[in-house]
Amino acid sequence: MGKDFEGVIILARPESSNIPPIIEMQNVGIRYGQGPEVLSDVKLSLKKGSFHFLTGKSGAGKTSLLSMMYLAQKPSRGIVNVFGKNVNFTNRDSLSMLRRKIGVVFQDFRLLDHLSAFDNVALPLRVCGMDEREVRKRVKELLQWVELDRHMLDTPATLSGGEKQRIAIARAVINRPELLLADEPTGNVDNDIAPKLMKLFVELNKLGTTVVIATHSEKLINDFNYPRLHLQNHNLHILYPSSSRFGGQI
Ligand SMILES: Nc1ncnc2c1ncn2[C@@H]1O[C@H](COP(=O)(O)OP(=O)(O)OP(=O)(O)O)[C@@H](O)[C@H]1O
Ligand SMILES: [Mg+2]
Repeated sequence: MGKDFEGVIILARPESSNIPPIIEMQNVGIRYGQGPEVLSDVKLSLKKGSFHFLTGKSGAGKTSLLSMMYLAQKPSRGIVNVFGKNVNFTNRDSLSMLRRKIGVVFQDFRLLDHLSAFDNVALPLRVCGMDEREVRKRVKELLQWVELDRHMLDTPATLSGGEKQRIAIARAVINRPELLLADEPTGNVDNDIAPKLMKLFVELNKLGTTVVIATHSEKLINDFNYPRLHLQNHNLHILYPSSSRFGGQI
């Protein structure tokens, strides 16, 4: 057992539960072009309402795994089911409908440069056709929470990395997605705001959202004590905190 595994115990995955999986993977491999497999034989079942960290060294494959979860990439081999649909047999239109249920915080933010912070965050609500008065109320409230109300009308190019990251987070959570995937969401923000952003994810999870957060932050992992999907040597290991408060309800 290597250093990465200290402080955690590895248990067999809890079997007996009627909670349906949101994401299932069997014998999944990912490769780019003719290169070697970045991830091999991934087996995973994420239950609705679960919360996991995703860890592993730089280059271990965290972003690659997340990109399959948010349906941007199909596996090179194996089966991936998201919301009960096998992504290999789901057409493009159906995939884009499924994507509407997923909030994503990209590692490189992917904000729309020509839109203000406000309009970036409002986008998922407007796509769903929400009444504009309600859109304004919700977006203002959330931008206040992430301490960006001063920058509501600014475009991303004029904002710092941490500010852009908070807009990306606000955009991902604004319509309370069924699944939230966040790739290093606190990598660019100060230590004092990181717990506040985590609180946003925790509250969303309490409302039923399934959450996966890729992080390098040992502090977050230790403070929040959620199970980890850990990538090492091209494989996925599931690690449960030794002082688990989850009692198998993962
Ligand atoms: N589009 C791509 N084309 C070719 N190789 C890629 C591509 N994307 C990722 N890779 C390779 O796949 C491996 C895993 O990359 P990935 O970005 O998933 O790692 P990561 O764990 O997210 O790293 P980091 O912590 O630095 O973000 C790396 O070796 C990377 O070079
Ligand atoms: Mg990455």
